[in-house]
Amino acid sequence: MLYQPIKKLGGINQYYQEASVGVGMLRDVFDQVPSVELQADAKELTPIVGQLTFEGVAFSYTDEVVLRDFDLVLSKGMKIGVVGESGAGKSTLVSLLLRFYDPVKGRVLIDGVDIREVTFESLRGQMALVSQEVVIFDQTVAENIACGKLDASREEIVAAAKAANAHEFIGGLPKGYDTRLGEQGTRLSGGQRQRIAIARAFVRQAPILMLDEATAALDSKAEAEVQGAIDRLEEGRTVVCVAHRLSTLRGMDKIIVLHEGRVVEEGGFRELLERDGVFAEMARKQGLAAG
Ligand SMILES: Nc1ncnc2c1ncn2[C@@H]1O[C@H](COP(=O)(O)OP(=O)(O)OP(=O)(O)O)[C@@H](O)[C@H]1O
Ligand SMILES: [Mg+2]
Repeated sequence: MLYQPIKKLGGINQYYQEASVGVGMLRDVFDQVPSVELQADAKELTPIVGQLTFEGVAFSYTDEVVLRDFDLVLSKGMKIGVVGESGAGKSTLVSLLLRFYDPVKGRVLIDGVDIREVTFESLRGQMALVSQEVVIFDQTVAENIACGKLDASREEIVAAAKAANAHEFIGGLPKGYDTRLGEQGTRLSGGQRQRIAIARAFVRQAPILMLDEATAALDSKAEAEVQGAIDRLEEGRTVVCVAHRLSTLRGMDKIIVLHEGRVVEEGGFRELLERDGVFAEMARKQGLAAG
């Protein structure tokens, strides 16, 4: 009669070992110290009507300076392209706007309000980010899109998927919008994942859109499919678009070239090509000619 209980005790030990690994991981998460703090008197930020401004911003993660004396004025509805070599500080710029970090010096303002003075929800609720790495959750297609706006209705989700050129391939999945994705479910191609990310951005209906190398990991066929959706997403929004492939920046109102955390060149696409500086050199290497 002793055999079964002893065997069970052995099982408990294994269960305990497994659980303690999970608890350890959870503890690591809880121990994370946020890099930004909510001010006690934080206000609600109203939707942008005028300008987004970087004012003399300096930033570093560690000792190394990543951005220095950085100024930028972005009027509502304007589209700005950001280029520069790897490590120039392009993604850092996006992180500062989302307030994942605070500047060491200077300020980031929306309509004259320092973004440190507002709630995270009202700041980030105005923004949508599409980046190179798309996280697909182990949930249905609909839930994966709705993570852009948790209370989105099925109509909103479908409309967002249509706008993102995703409705058609979703229709071809075993259970359509109710198909489970992720580790345990259907795997998507890079271009399909990216269109899910774009649908998430559509469903948010955020006035400020940030694209960080959104098509960099795609082959040219997938890029063409995704680019059409991005073009539609950009309509009527204020856009910050980070791109290696310069050809994707033709439609931007202005392009800034970052080098070691400073703006070394800025202007329109053609203007920069004709100036024959850093941008023109990068364009030549990518086989883009002036004119
Ligand atoms: N979380 C971090 N902690 C410490 N240093 C960081 C962190 N993120 C970026 N850096 C450093 O800051 C600098 C700028 O990085 P950033 O990611 O902004 O460059 P980037 O222009 O986006 O480059 P890429 O084209 O490769 O994406 C780099 O030197 C990078 O190593
Ligand atoms: Mg980057």
